[in-house]
Amino acid sequence: MSRNGEDRVNQNGENRVNPIRSPRGVHDILPPETARWRQFEAAFAAFCDRAGYGELRLPMFEELGVFLRLGQDTEVVSKEMYDFVDKDGKHMALRPEMTASAARAFIQHSPTVPWKVYYHGPQFRCERPQAGRYRQFSQAGIEVFGVSDPYLDVEVIALGWEFLKSLGLAKMSLHINSLGDTDDRAAYGEQLRNYFAERADELSEASRKTAETNPLRVLDSKREQDQDIIAEAPSCLDFLSDAASERSDAASKRFEVVCEGLRQLEIDFQINPKLVRGLDYYTHTAFEYVSEAFEGAQNALGGGGHYSGLVEALGGKDSPGVGFALGIDRIFLACDSEGVFAFDPSGIDIFVVDIVGGQEALVLTHQLRMAGISCDRAWGNRSMKAQMKLADRSGAEFALIVGSDEQEAGAVGFRDLRSDQFVKQENIPRDEIVDELRKRLAPQTQ
Ligand code: HAM
Repeated sequence: MSRNGEDRVNQNGENRVNPIRSPRGVHDILPPETARWRQFEAAFAAFCDRAGYGELRLPMFEELGVFLRLGQDTEVVSKEMYDFVDKDGKHMALRPEMTASAARAFIQHSPTVPWKVYYHGPQFRCERPQAGRYRQFSQAGIEVFGVSDPYLDVEVIALGWEFLKSLGLAKMSLHINSLGDTDDRAAYGEQLRNYFAERADELSEASRKTAETNPLRVLDSKREQDQDIIAEAPSCLDFLSDAASERSDAASKRFEVVCEGLRQLEIDFQINPKLVRGLDYYTHTAFEYVSEAFEGAQNALGGGGHYSGLVEALGGKDSPGVGFALGIDRIFLACDSEGVFAFDPSGIDIFVVDIVGGQEALVLTHQLRMAGISCDRAWGNRSMKAQMKLADRSGAEFALIVGSDEQEAGAVGFRDLRSDQFVKQENIPRDEIVDELRKRLAPQTQ
């Protein structure tokens, strides 16, 4: 069999080039679906602006070193990175997430703290593609650098939660956990390593390997064989320090404050001591927004948490942070499943039907667009019937008809397309058309 892009001979003996398709695990977003993405991004931006966050735009690739602090033993770093050596001989990587890039930017630009930012855009992970898991996917997220305050964790968690609800999503749950400070996390990791070593024979082969390098990750295994062992594993909440250390507040107290803050905001949550997240930088609070609208392992609509050590590892002065990222592709799957946040495909108000050659449609659409009125037209000098069909399909509210009778009368025909009944055409003088349309369209935009 020939590969994409190579010549092949078809059944008729013709030489054809096989059409090239998009790479595995990435997808095109076509109109009118694109409108939904724009709507999402605009809503997210407005939501974050209202909470005092500023938009951050970051490069899609960075020096590889920026991403290594996500955890050398995490799958994101060890298996999924799209890395390459560029023409200057530098080892680069397409960003698999944006927290590390945001930390790099925080160090580089030394903004005043707290630095509250939001972002959205594509991320790249060479994962095994399946529904809800892609190699290029989009995230929208926020980060706050420079302060560690449990109430800030609550603000961040609440913003993500309320934003998802504002899309109309209802079948969701919020899972939270605390991984403790760096020492607690390390002690828990060690305990887990020992626990999994004792039960190594019962673990799946993949988890047995993971348990040696990154025992926390085993808790995330979806393999049937591992489930009983995971269920009986020690809880990380038992490892939270009770006493404040030089570096941080007492982890258990901090976690209580976060939980109480969520209760104050009347946000329901489940404490999930097995929630460890797939990236290594988290300390203290970790959380995930989980959809209950569809089956399958890819039901995390977003997640995040508090982190420390990331800024320091990238060469900055140690500075804590907290944030989340939402997976837009997955959110749309959940929206489809719940029948919410559907998009409005209609983009235009007027469709011009010209059956006298098309020149008047050329001038009229130009004039209307310059006057700020959205409009479209048909091409190729098609019949009145065919053009009216296109007008109906376009979603436009009104059709303007240009025929010889109308031209002779110095007018343009006007027809309301919204009614199911036949509506008689009205003629509007050609030189009044722009003002008249403005009047008729105005009440709809109020
Ligand atoms: P993450 O859990 O790796 O966290 O990704 C956040 C969300 O991105 C996931 O919950 C999921 O919805 C979506 N996502 C991840 N991988 C894929 C994929 N292959 N295909 C489709 N969607 C995907 C982070 O990225 C952290 N940077 C979040 C964060 C921000 N933590 C602190 N600040």
